[in-house]
Amino acid sequence: MEKQRIYITRSLDEAVIAPYANLFEIRMWEKEEEPVPREILLEEVKNADGLFCMLSDKIDDELLQHSSNLKVVSNLAVGYDNIDLDAAKKHGVIATNTPDVLTETTADLGFALLMATARRIVEANQYIKTNQWQNWAPYLLAGSDIHHKTIGIVGMGRIGEAIARRAKGFDMNILYHNRSRKPVAEKDLQATYVSFEQLIGEADFIVSVVPFTPETSKIFNEAAFEKMKQTAIFINISRGATVDEDALVEALRTNKIKAAGLDVFEVEPITNEHPLMQLDNAVCIPHIGSASEETRTEMIQLCMDNIAGVLNGTGAKTAIQ
Ligand code: DGY
Repeated sequence: MEKQRIYITRSLDEAVIAPYANLFEIRMWEKEEEPVPREILLEEVKNADGLFCMLSDKIDDELLQHSSNLKVVSNLAVGYDNIDLDAAKKHGVIATNTPDVLTETTADLGFALLMATARRIVEANQYIKTNQWQNWAPYLLAGSDIHHKTIGIVGMGRIGEAIARRAKGFDMNILYHNRSRKPVAEKDLQATYVSFEQLIGEADFIVSVVPFTPETSKIFNEAAFEKMKQTAIFINISRGATVDEDALVEALRTNKIKAAGLDVFEVEPITNEHPLMQLDNAVCIPHIGSASEETRTEMIQLCMDNIAGVLNGTGAKTAIQ
């Protein structure tokens, strides 16, 4: 019997793929750091039964109608705003993502970014490496305290709760806003549910972990930054499109808020010509929330298991509902 075919949109370590190589015919885009060009992807998907894609691949109606065999699209991310779920449903394609396996790693990164931004770690590193450290001084690179401050978590899903656990370890007061109340977080972490307006007005650290949807598009806009404290630090590890970047640049430039730590941007990759890159009070990193070696390997395995499960009829472990 002919093997079913899987196409992977980046070059991945053969060792992770090897266990599946006897079962399926696997083709991969040849580069690890460059996305597959759209026209090649459209061609490859024609014959694929399963597609293993990245968050930077747009999985839309045009792509899905290119294939008559495609049964599953497996996204190497927990966020799936790059996939048109209605189109997938229309074409009978199951979409899967990678929840749970990346929760703690992404929360680690979120908290690391919060700490780096508050304590000016990146500036301090630059300062010493560019030989500016001539003398010790009382307020040299003085940042903001983290312990005992108020953190406001927007989007209290798995990653939001994992950030709240870390915040509790720092004796922080925890506010959250979410579509629904989270009784366990309220009981175990003493997190307090508040409106979005109250959260952005009261928190010292506002952390966005909210999925990107039409409702959350640019929720962090001029009006939102206006309501934040002048000492507020804004952290975004969700999706860049939840933020009006022009408004954020303005808020940072005019010191309406103190600083921002950003792992995600409206257009990725962002370039160093973007105004955010000119600001000392913006700490910017290239969408590496879940990027630990251990977690990325687990995510890749989960993606492969999801594809294999759909293709062999046992079902996906983590289908997007
Ligand atoms: C995801 O998985 O959606 C994250 O953005 C990866 O860092």
